Amino acid sequence: MAQHPKRPPSKSRKPARANLPAKPKPRAAGLPARQVAFGLLERILGHKRSLDEALADEARAVAELEARDRGFALLLTRTVLRRMGQLDALIDRYLDKDPGGARGRALRTLLRIGLAQLVFLGTPPHAAVDGSVRLAAFRKLGAFRGLINAVLRRAAGEAGTLAQDQDAARLNCPAWLWRSWENAHGAPAARAIAESLLSEPPLDLTLKPELDATEWAERMDATWIAPSTLRLSHAGDVRALPGYDDGAWWVQDLAASMPVHLLGPVKGRRVLDLCAAPGGKTARLAALGAEVTAMDRSAARLTRLEENMTRLGLSATVVTADATTWTPPDGILFDAILIDAPCSGTGTIRRHPDLGRLKSSEDVTRLSALQDRLIDAGLTLLAPGGRLVFATCSLEPEEGEDRIRALLERNPDVKVVPPGPTGPPDNDCPSVFREGVTADGWVRLMPHYQAEAGGMDGFFAAAIERIT
Ligand SMILES: C[S@@+](CC[C@H](N)C(=O)[O-])C[C@H]1O[C@@H](n2cnc3c(N)ncnc32)[C@H](O)[C@@H]1O
Repeated sequence: MAQHPKRPPSKSRKPARANLPAKPKPRAAGLPARQVAFGLLERILGHKRSLDEALADEARAVAELEARDRGFALLLTRTVLRRMGQLDALIDRYLDKDPGGARGRALRTLLRIGLAQLVFLGTPPHAAVDGSVRLAAFRKLGAFRGLINAVLRRAAGEAGTLAQDQDAARLNCPAWLWRSWENAHGAPAARAIAESLLSEPPLDLTLKPELDATEWAERMDATWIAPSTLRLSHAGDVRALPGYDDGAWWVQDLAASMPVHLLGPVKGRRVLDLCAAPGGKTARLAALGAEVTAMDRSAARLTRLEENMTRLGLSATVVTADATTWTPPDGILFDAILIDAPCSGTGTIRRHPDLGRLKSSEDVTRLSALQDRLIDAGLTLLAPGGRLVFATCSLEPEEGEDRIRALLERNPDVKVVPPGPTGPPDNDCPSVFREGVTADGWVRLMPHYQAEAGGMDGFFAAAIERIT
């Protein structure tokens, strides 16, 4: 069935070249791109905005960039976020005294940008050093130009080699996450997860079920890795890919396609997608022939869901509501309910490196309380004999295993339904996810699973039914 997958390009760590240009060029190419990267990083690291929010905040500056510069600005931003521990360890080596405060933070951001180019992106040293010195003038860091020049020139000669001796997985992984993963999944898994965060993930597309996966894989130069998933090693602009305008597929990580499988056959059934936007799972349910009600409390995110469904030629009843208090106006209960709950998203850090710098253990505690409320609300909407699937894209047991254990304690009349042994179409767990099926009957997917094929996001899902 599945072909041998193509590996995503691994990021090389090229040692930096020592030679620097004698004189800076009159105008360093790509300065606007570096300015945008700086602006995005300041918003993310200084103001706790997500990368998507930061992109919206900086929309004008981003739009003014040529496509190539925009790509470079994003790559630079994502590389700094992904490799921040390594970059900071190098900066600490070179910086005798951190000026502290907002200026100190800005200086560090600028040095991270310069070093990321030298160490990880293979930017010619003269461009990286020159671009950073010029950037300093634009960002009210003119007083540090000499320091920036000295640090980066020194780094250009040796930082690439120094970086190769660093423990990249450990240094770049936020300490609380390393601890949490070690406690929950063991030391080897914690390291494997942290290693998976170092490279850009491939792009996964969920293909409409009626389309021929072999034919589409060939057409898109993709690999068919699961019943409904095609994998591309290189992303680019997805709107330019074949089938986008015709609504043949939608973007969804392999792991994110798993929870819908656990609902079992849904054709012709009344299914409630309780936390639906932006709609990846709603689309799959509708494409499989379910009668879907897609609910979310965010009207803005539901607008995106509606746009996606329109492009795909699929339909669902859309409801804007808080799922913890909603009751169906017709009083009719649902045959199947999916709760793809809000969570810390730590399973998606390889795709969203900003999350690693924004989330904390407090977020996990806060969100796990909401997850309990959503599960309890979902159970009141489930018809007799119906099935509820609870899922999160988190690697934290507090947002997965612990929620189901707590549910089983609160409700002696519910049980976990393990995925069947046979896989689709008879049952609900394709072989690509089998590695994640646990003795407790739920599915725990890790970013390093199927690593040779490019990995997958971290995900948790459990199917629940009432004991009859
Ligand atoms: C993980 S995302 C869902 C992703 C979606 N299922 C998909 O596949 O595209 C969680 C969603 O839960 C929504 N949400 C959070 N709290 C909610 C609540 N109390 N009621 C309804 N939706 C809620 C958020 O707005 C967010 O869109």
